[in-house]
Amino acid sequence: MPETELVILRELLAREPAYVSGATLAEKLHMSRVSVWMHMEKLRAQGFTFEASTARGYRIATRPAGLHLALVEAYLKGRRHLPIQLLDEVDSTNDEAARQLASGRTAPFVILARQQTRGRGRRGRPWHSEPNGNLYSSFAFRPRLSPDRMAVFTLWMGANICELIANFSKLTPGLKWPNDILFDGRKAGGMLTEARIDADEIHDLVFGLGLNVNGPAAAWPGELARRATSLAEQSTAALDLNRFTAALIGRVVLAYEQFVAGDHKATFADLWQKYDVLRGQPVALLHGEQRIAGTAMGIDDAGSLLLRTGHGRLQRFHAGDVTIEKRP
Ligand code: BTN
Repeated sequence: MPETELVILRELLAREPAYVSGATLAEKLHMSRVSVWMHMEKLRAQGFTFEASTARGYRIATRPAGLHLALVEAYLKGRRHLPIQLLDEVDSTNDEAARQLASGRTAPFVILARQQTRGRGRRGRPWHSEPNGNLYSSFAFRPRLSPDRMAVFTLWMGANICELIANFSKLTPGLKWPNDILFDGRKAGGMLTEARIDADEIHDLVFGLGLNVNGPAAAWPGELARRATSLAEQSTAALDLNRFTAALIGRVVLAYEQFVAGDHKATFADLWQKYDVLRGQPVALLHGEQRIAGTAMGIDDAGSLLLRTGHGRLQRFHAGDVTIEKRP
């Protein structure tokens, strides 16, 4: 998006619902009012409509439905952010980010897509990725961290994203170890962190987040309709996907910087516990062929799940799928 159109959008968004005069925009952009009008035509071509009043100026009447790069960038304002690429369709934003890292693109950056044709979840499971107002995003970094820090990284990101959702929407999400975002037992989001490791160091790191924002989960195929939900289904109205995406990018960048600097240590345990839906629950953990039953006791410093199993033994697990069992 050319800078001029971005400046116009920022001004209009910042003053909403008030009007911004053509003269103010012209002065800000050091151009004539006719030129301003011509740039607004370009925004119209992208799906914006404006209310224009000779006395008061312009304001946004309607905006493009769905994810729109200029709107995300305009909402980011001066906040920390990374180069953003928005694709109409891609196989998987995680795969695209990994390909770009492998081809030498400077990190960090973020890949967003309106639709994925081969969205992936943990353990190679598919991630349903229709173009229906949901978020498919991958953040690419080159952190040079020790690989054993990856587990905590995903959990730290999950807790930060829950905090963001809670602040943004006033909803109360839950975290199911290691990477599910839930509402009342239904999944609204998942995270997939993947890395290329060399000589015992993480070189390329891709953090992927799929989040059902405005999608009508009930319309999804088969099992998903019962097991999935979206933020919109939990609220009274649809969420502003572009404003949310901007807030997400700001939060992920900050959380990443804190993690690399080791500054997450002071707050991580409390933040995780705030959203942990497993703690104190009777659970079963499937780990390969094994099924281990116990009571979830939170996580340890390395991000492993703690289970109190038979005879009061405390066991830690660094991988597995957890289900909450009915209390006897
Ligand atoms: C899971 O719950 O198993 C993780 C799901 C992660 C899905 C996201 S959508 C954006 C990114 N691209 C992918 O192919 N996967 C992640």
